[in-house]
Amino acid sequence: MSERSNSSVIIHEFNPSPTDVILTGDRPTGPLHLGHFHGSLKARVAYQRVCKQYILLADVQALTDNAENPQKVASNVLEVMLDYLSVGIDPKLSTIYVASAIPETSELTMYFLNLVNLGRLQRNPTVKTEMRQKGYDEGVPVGFLTYPVNQAADISQFRATVVPVGEDQVPMIEQTNDLVRNFNRIYNTSVFRECKALVPRGGLIPGLDGNSKMSKSLNNAIYLSDDERTVAKKIKAMYTDPNHVRVEDPGNVEGNPVFTYLDAFDSDTAKVAELKAHYQRGGLGDGVVKERLRGVLEEMLAPIRARRADFAKDRGEVLRILRDSTLRAREVVAQNLHEARGAMGINYFQ
Ligand code: TRP
Repeated sequence: MSERSNSSVIIHEFNPSPTDVILTGDRPTGPLHLGHFHGSLKARVAYQRVCKQYILLADVQALTDNAENPQKVASNVLEVMLDYLSVGIDPKLSTIYVASAIPETSELTMYFLNLVNLGRLQRNPTVKTEMRQKGYDEGVPVGFLTYPVNQAADISQFRATVVPVGEDQVPMIEQTNDLVRNFNRIYNTSVFRECKALVPRGGLIPGLDGNSKMSKSLNNAIYLSDDERTVAKKIKAMYTDPNHVRVEDPGNVEGNPVFTYLDAFDSDTAKVAELKAHYQRGGLGDGVVKERLRGVLEEMLAPIRARRADFAKDRGEVLRILRDSTLRAREVVAQNLHEARGAMGINYFQ
């Protein structure tokens, strides 16, 4: 049970080549927001044209801390799928699938669980933080403690090479590579491949309240599915520089989320620079900057919203797309699992 802290597992930039296999995904516990769009969805739309890409609706993992509320997870599967389709993730180019519909992942999780010890799982810093937040202490559900092993199965079952994730997920990738190395060594095989965590630099979008992270639980998000009025209202109420009281006062652009959003989403960088200079000098009201942001976001979100409405007209069809895509994913997994079982010598019946 070798354990290495391996910072070389992280890459910040990525030019996909056709032989790369990307695996990424989201817990379906709520609608996706601007943070997801900027930090990952846009890149997925680009990658899908170059290499194989699997996108996971991680309902099994979401259940590890929602076991008593499966409806919260189940009801979001199709919603997140609609978010994916509305931003331009194309099910002909990306393979989108639901985790629970691939039982082989659970099987692989069981084999992996034999290759990691309890102490290693308990030391995972992300899991530790989450356990503290949830107040589990001694009462942690075993399924929760072991979700990184399930995540390792999510990734390695496709022989993925690159896993785009946030910084907090790096321990999961290290865990994955530990398991891959252990499995391949013990069963003398090369069926699984090590992977890299692709962590975008500066991809984080702050919340409407100025909190460093946009998140559903902090109630500080603009959702891709928000209508025009809701977005306008949210922008109006957005945190800015609290010391910028009168229009003529000089204002701060650092830590002012209105400007962070403009940096992220306004393609007219000269205009943004001009607004910043004016704001810092004084004489530019928050309302004017916010109106600029509203226009920029509306231009970006309107076509996403329209595509969503279009797909949402026929949810049965969206479900069929997801099912077909999931079946294709399962075929790949089944083949790799067959090979893994072969290496273990447990393909009894064939
Ligand atoms: N743990 C990820 C999150 O909380 C979701 C996830 C599950 C995932 N399985 C994955 C991400 C595999 C990347 C690869 O956001």
